[in-house]
Amino acid sequence: MANVTFGTSCILVLFCYQVLSVDGEHFVAAVYEHHVILNPNPTATTDRQSALQLMNKNLDIYEQQVIAAAQQGAQIIIFPEDGIQGFNFTRTSIYPYLEFIPYPDSATWNPCREAYLFNDTEVLHRLSCMALKNQLFLVANVGTKQFCKHNDPFCPPDGRYQFNTNVVFNDNGTLIAIYRKQNLYFEYAFNTPPETDHIIFYTPFAGKFGIFTCFDILFYEPAVSLIKQYNVKQIVYPTAWMNQLPLLSAVEFQRAFATAFGINLLAANIHHPDLGMTGSGIYTPLKSFISYDMESVNGKLIVAEIPVILDHEIQMENSVISNNILESFSRYHMDMLVCHKEDQKDCNEIAEGAALPIFYSEMMYDNFTLAPIMEAEGNIHICSNTLCCYLSYQRLDLSNELYALGVFDDLHTVHGTYYVQACVLVKCGGINYSTCGQEVTQATGLIDFQLQGNFSTAFVFPLLLRSDVTLDFADSLGWRSNYYVMQKKGGSSGLITAGLYGRWYEKD
Ligand SMILES: *[C@@H]1O[C@H](CO)[C@@H](O)[C@H](O)[C@H]1NC(C)=O
Ligand SMILES: *[C@@H]1O[C@H](CO)[C@@H](O)[C@H](O)[C@H]1NC(C)=O
Ligand SMILES: *[C@@H]1O[C@H](CO)[C@@H](O)[C@H](O)[C@H]1NC(C)=O
Ligand SMILES: *[C@@H]1O[C@H](CO)[C@@H](O)[C@H](O)[C@H]1NC(C)=O
Ligand SMILES: *[C@@H]1O[C@H](CO)[C@@H](O)[C@H](O)[C@H]1NC(C)=O
Ligand SMILES: *[C@@H]1O[C@H](CO)[C@@H](O)[C@H](O)[C@H]1NC(C)=O
Repeated sequence: MANVTFGTSCILVLFCYQVLSVDGEHFVAAVYEHHVILNPNPTATTDRQSALQLMNKNLDIYEQQVIAAAQQGAQIIIFPEDGIQGFNFTRTSIYPYLEFIPYPDSATWNPCREAYLFNDTEVLHRLSCMALKNQLFLVANVGTKQFCKHNDPFCPPDGRYQFNTNVVFNDNGTLIAIYRKQNLYFEYAFNTPPETDHIIFYTPFAGKFGIFTCFDILFYEPAVSLIKQYNVKQIVYPTAWMNQLPLLSAVEFQRAFATAFGINLLAANIHHPDLGMTGSGIYTPLKSFISYDMESVNGKLIVAEIPVILDHEIQMENSVISNNILESFSRYHMDMLVCHKEDQKDCNEIAEGAALPIFYSEMMYDNFTLAPIMEAEGNIHICSNTLCCYLSYQRLDLSNELYALGVFDDLHTVHGTYYVQACVLVKCGGINYSTCGQEVTQATGLIDFQLQGNFSTAFVFPLLLRSDVTLDFADSLGWRSNYYVMQKKGGSSGLITAGLYGRWYEKD
């Protein structure tokens, strides 16, 4: 769960070199959803030998998966957050699990080839050797310790920083990137880095990648800034995500993030269904290769060949590749649609809802304003603060399942503080209005709809989830003047959630 920056001139030089060496339009990625072997008593203090014993059990599984991934041609593999040491430690009890990294000067160190430079680097050594032996890029998450320099005004009282850290090794086993999680999720064992890391690393097969961790996906820094300022189109994402329906199940939000930014996202989650943790995937703007499994206790390796998304400069040079991507993408994203003359009637009509029984219900700890879907078809709208949500719908099923349109425009304050603007169509838990907002995984309701809202933020994440937590794509998405619009007709199974989840970062 954390971040690093290289000098700008360095980025430019490497970048041009990569343009010449990008050698095809696809690459093979692997993510491993790992059933982490946990310390049964993580708050008890232990010694380094015992800590290594536990971590080596997890690393043994990593090693098998790296070999399996390499056999399937993978060029990069991502492992989840907390996958080596587990979680729920205290600051003291995690200490024996921490690796030493001579941050930030170590980004050319090869722990497999130069094992004995530093103490307490056994885990890095094994990871580096896996990458080297199997000749692939490897991304893993480890706990790290960094001793304070003299006179560091931010130094914690015990004289050291402890970071939730992602490490990246190239196919030679060289440590090429270190990212320290920025947005910790109640992880008292770790510190937030004194400055946000914006980390980019380079591969010969897909150019540059950005990196962040778990909870970071909900915040501007560093996730959005990597995409907007650093123009990253490929992201690796270790996570340990506890699912929360109806809006924040892992695969649901990973899909939404890749769609919203038009990027490739390689997401590896922990596999612990008993803790609500499952949901990993390889996402392109147009496809998802996912695993969501609440039944099996075993981990899952996902390997997929996906198109490289090149950034703008490269697109100009390789016009064949870029045209394919741009074409398919713009067909999907109907950005900046205007209300055409023939639609004008619809655009106005949708705003005129009949009097509705408005009610309030808690959804993921937020007090949503809702209105039930009562007819076979209709246009309804509801508002909260400055956000108004509009729904045109047509029900295709005969079930009596209750659905509701919900709106929320306020600061979310439970398990993290962040400002949300959301328009959602959800299946309720039962037939009582008070069940709207509950976690639901099964549905039979089929609804054609157009959902839109006048968001105050540009950052709207489109959610579309069907029965059994399966993903679907909207028919169209994007801005129509001041409204963000999602449209969908048809669908193979019942609707759980159709949502526009906006993050108004400035109001956090
Ligand atoms: C870790 O802590 C969380 C939150 O306190 C709790 O829900 C979970 O059960 C704990 N997990 C383990 C493996 O102890
Ligand atoms: C590594 O640990 C050993 C034994 O604790 C110690 O003697 C040595 O000085 C340490 N080396 C470094 C580089 O810290
Ligand atoms: C990998 O290591 C080999 C042998 O040391 C070296 O020739 C090659 O340049 C290295 N490649 C990269 C990408 O570091
Ligand atoms: C939810 O919001 C409404 C409207 O502001 C308010 O009347 C109601 O008391 C709130 N409910 C809760 C549980 O806070
Ligand atoms: C959204 O629409 C409502 C109703 O027209 C309006 O009161 C509100 O100011 C609008 N919000 C924004 C951000 O324009
Ligand atoms: C609906 O739920 C509320 C709150 O749980 C309860 O007070 C009410 O009796 C329920 N209504 C019906 C019809 O079951």
